[in-house]
Amino acid sequence: MAGDGREEGVGRPLPGRRGRALRNLRVGFRDYAAFLGRLHDEFGPIATFDLPSTTVCAVFDAELMQEALVAKRACFEKGPALKRAGFLGGSTILTGDGEPHRRRRRLLLPAFHGEALAGYAGLVIGAAADLSGGWRDGATVDLAAEMQRLTLRIETGAFFGTDSRVEPAVLSDAIEGMRWDMKLLFLPWSGLLRRLPLPQSRKARRAFGRLDAAIREVVRKARADTGARVDLVSLLARARDEAGGYAALSDSEVRDECYAVLLAAHEATVNAMVWAFHHLACRPETQVRLERELDAVLAGRPPAPADLESLPFARAVFDETLRLTPPIAFFGRRAIADCTIGGYRIPAGTTVQMAVLTAQRDPRHFPEPDRFLPERWLEEGGGPGDGIAFLAFGGGNRLCVGGAFARMAAVLVLATVVQRWRFQPLLAGPVETTSLVIYRPKHGLPMRLMARRDVPASDGGARA
Ligand code: HEM
Repeated sequence: MAGDGREEGVGRPLPGRRGRALRNLRVGFRDYAAFLGRLHDEFGPIATFDLPSTTVCAVFDAELMQEALVAKRACFEKGPALKRAGFLGGSTILTGDGEPHRRRRRLLLPAFHGEALAGYAGLVIGAAADLSGGWRDGATVDLAAEMQRLTLRIETGAFFGTDSRVEPAVLSDAIEGMRWDMKLLFLPWSGLLRRLPLPQSRKARRAFGRLDAAIREVVRKARADTGARVDLVSLLARARDEAGGYAALSDSEVRDECYAVLLAAHEATVNAMVWAFHHLACRPETQVRLERELDAVLAGRPPAPADLESLPFARAVFDETLRLTPPIAFFGRRAIADCTIGGYRIPAGTTVQMAVLTAQRDPRHFPEPDRFLPERWLEEGGGPGDGIAFLAFGGGNRLCVGGAFARMAAVLVLATVVQRWRFQPLLAGPVETTSLVIYRPKHGLPMRLMARRDVPASDGGARA
C-alpha cells in the first residue's frame, strides 16, 4: 500500500445488490434515506448498489467514514455532479480538489470565525426578534417558511452588510435558479437541456444576473475602501493568505465563492432550525428546560452576542438536532484510485456515499439513538464518546467551514424565539420526511403559536 492509501487489486468484494440500476434510481429518488436504511439493514456497515451512470458504495459506519475522509482522503475527490453546475463558474471551495481547494479554504475560513463571526451575531438576533415580534398569540404559522424567511434575511445582511439595499429576494431567486439548474444536471441529456431557452432557465439566468450585480457592487466598494466593511463579500474580496502565500481571490472568484457558500449554507441552515423547533414542540419537557436556562441567563432581557457561551443547553439542543436529524444526511465522494475501506475493495470511479443519518443513530456511539436527548451533549468530555461519530458537519479536510456560524446563529435564534414562544404541532402522527439532497419534513412544519406568559419581567437593559 502506498503512503496515501492507494491499494491496487486488494480487498474483499463489497456486499450488496448489483444490477437493477433503474429500479434503484426510481426507489432511491422517492426517499433516499429509506432506500439506504433498507440496504443497511440487509448488508451492515458497508454495501454497494448500481445506478444507471455509476456504481455506489454506501458507508454506514462512522469508523469506516473516518477511514475514507481522513486516512485515505488522497484516494477520493468531491463527487462529479456539483462540478458540472454552470452557475459555480470555475473550481470553488465546494467543488475543487487538491491545491485549488486548499487555497479556497485558507482564504475563506477567516470570514466565518473570530471577529467576523461576532459581527454577524447582532444581525442574527435582530432578524429573529423582528420575525417573532410580528407573530400573534394563537396564530398558525408554517415554521419551515418562517425559517426560510429568517435565514434569507440573515444571509442578505451577512453577505452584503446591514447598510446594503439588496433585497432578500435577490438571494431567494438565485437559490431557486440554482435548484432548477441542479435538477437539470441529474437528468439524461442535461447538457442539451441546459442550453434550451426553457422559461425556468431564463428566469434563473436573470436571477444570477441580479445577484452578480449585487456582488460586483460590494466588491467594488470593498476594494476602494480598505478595512471598514465586515460583510462576507467584502471579507472575501480583501482576504489574504499572509502565511501560506496563496494568491488573493479575483473578482470572478469572489463571485463564484459567494454562490458556493450560498449553496452550501442555505438549505442546511434552514432545515437545522426547522428540525430544532420540531423536536422542541414534540418534547415539552425539553422546551421547559431550555426556557429555564434562558430565564436564568437573560432574566427577561433580549439575548446579546455575549450570551452565547452561557447557553450550554441551547447549544446541546442544536447538537442533538444535528445528530438525530442531520439536514445533510449524506454526502459523496468519487474514488480516484483503487483502495479499500474496512478491507473492502473500492475500485477507482466508484461513488462513495457517507450515510451520516445512519452513523449518527448507531447505538454503539449514541445510547438510545432514536430518542432526542440533548442532555447527552452535557456529559463530561463535551459529548458522547470520542466524537468520531458526529458527522453532521462532515469530516477531514472538507469539514464544514460554516459550522461555527451555523451554531452561533441557531443558538441565538433559539434563545430569541423560545424566550417568548411555545409551539403546538398541527400535523398528526410522525412527521413525514423527504431526503433527496436535504433531509427535511416533507410537508413543512405547521404550528400554533402560544405566547409565554411566565417570562421574567426585564429591567429593560440588554447586555453589550
Ligand atoms: C446546520 C447547518 C450546516 C450543516 C449541517 C452543514 C453541513 C456540511 C457538511 C456535511 C459539509 C461537508 C460536505 C462534504 O464533505 O462533501 C459541509 C461543507 C461546507 N459547508 Fe456546511 N453546513 C451547514 C452550514 C453551513 C454554513 C452556515 C456555511 C457558510 C456560511 C457552510 C459552508 C460550507 C462550505 C463552504 C462547505 C464546503 C467545505 C469544503 O469542501 O472544504 N455550511 N457543510
